[in-house]
Amino acid sequence: MKADPQQRLDELSAGYQNAVILLTANHLGVFPALAAGPRVAADLASELGLDARALETTLLALAAEGILSQARGTFCLAPDFAPLLLPGGSQSRASIMEHNYHLLRRWVGLDEVLRTGRPAADTQRPRDGTQLRAFICGMADISRQSSEEVARKLDLSPFNRLLDVGGGPGTAAITFALRYPQLRCVVYDLPEVVPIAREEIARAKLEERVATVAGDFLEDPLGSGFDILYVSNIIHSQSVGQTAALFGRCREALVAGGTVVVKDFFLDDSRVEPASAARFSVNMLVGTAEGKSYTLDETRELLADAGFGDFRVVTVARASALLVGRRGPSA
Ligand SMILES: C[S@@+](CC[C@H](N)C(=O)[O-])C[C@H]1O[C@@H](n2cnc3c(N)ncnc32)[C@H](O)[C@@H]1O
Repeated sequence: MKADPQQRLDELSAGYQNAVILLTANHLGVFPALAAGPRVAADLASELGLDARALETTLLALAAEGILSQARGTFCLAPDFAPLLLPGGSQSRASIMEHNYHLLRRWVGLDEVLRTGRPAADTQRPRDGTQLRAFICGMADISRQSSEEVARKLDLSPFNRLLDVGGGPGTAAITFALRYPQLRCVVYDLPEVVPIAREEIARAKLEERVATVAGDFLEDPLGSGFDILYVSNIIHSQSVGQTAALFGRCREALVAGGTVVVKDFFLDDSRVEPASAARFSVNMLVGTAEGKSYTLDETRELLADAGFGDFRVVTVARASALLVGRRGPSA
C-alpha cells in the first residue's frame, strides 16, 4: 500500500532529528558509558562532562526510539542494540555512525553545493586523523557482513592472487583469505590508510597471506600478475574519466583471462532505483568533485571499453551488486 503523502513528507522533513540525536550520543561516548551499567542522567552527565538536563532530554528521546531502556529515570542500552552501539565487536556500527556524524556537516551545506556545483568537502583527502579512522573503520563496520556474503556467493577457489583496490581496512581481503586458504591478497590504499589495514590484518593473524601496498591508484603502479581484482565501493567517488582510467590500470594489473569484480551501490537505468543509491549519489555530490552512483550499464560499458567482457551480475546485501568481468586477450 502506498504511504500517505502527508505522513511520508512529514517523516522525510523531520528525519534528520533522530539521526542527529543518535549520532551525537555516539560521538559523545554515551553508549560505551552506559555499557558500564545503568545510570541516571545526572551521574552520566557528570561522568561525560555534559549538562544533566540536556542529556536527560536526549536520553529520553533515544529511549522513545527503543535504542535505550528506561525505568524510573535510570537508563541502559536496549539489549538488541547493544552489540551494534558498542565499538569493537563484530556487529559494531560505532565507527560508521561516527563517520556519519562527520558527514552531517557536509550535508547541511547542500544549498551551497547546489549554487556552486562544487562539493562541501573532499571525502578523500585531507582529513584529520580522527575523521580518517572513523571513515576507514566505518568501512569495516559496513563491509564485514557483505564481505562474508561475497565470499559465499563468489567461488574464489580458482584464484591465487587477489588485489583489493582501495581496500581500506582490508575487511574483504581478510574475509576472503580466511575462507580460501590458497588465496594471497594485497590491500592497496593511500599511505595514511595502510597502517589501519595493517592493524586489522595483524588482529586476524594473516600477515603472511595479506600484504599491503601504499599508493594512489590513479597515479602509482598497481602491480601485476594478479588473477583477480576486487574494486569495492571505489568508483562512486571517482569521475567517469577517472573510473575509465582506473579500469584500464586494473586490466594491466591482471593476467590474461583474469577476473575483475566491481562492487557498488549501482542504480538501475531509471537512475531512481534503488532509492538508497539515488540518495547515496547526493552523498558523493556533497563530498567529492565528480563522484556519483553509477548505473550497472554504464559501468559495464566502461569495463568493456577497458578490455573486459563475459559479464555477470551478482546481488549482495542491502542494495549492492557485484559486476564481474573477465580480462580479454591483449589487443
Ligand atoms: C569507500 S572506501 C571503500 C573501502 C573498501 N574497498 C570497502 O568496500 O569497504 C574507499 C577507499 O578507497 C581509498 N582511496 C580513495 N582514493 C584512493 C586513491 N587515489 N588511491 C588509493 N586508494 C584510494 C580510500 O582511502 C578508501 O579506503
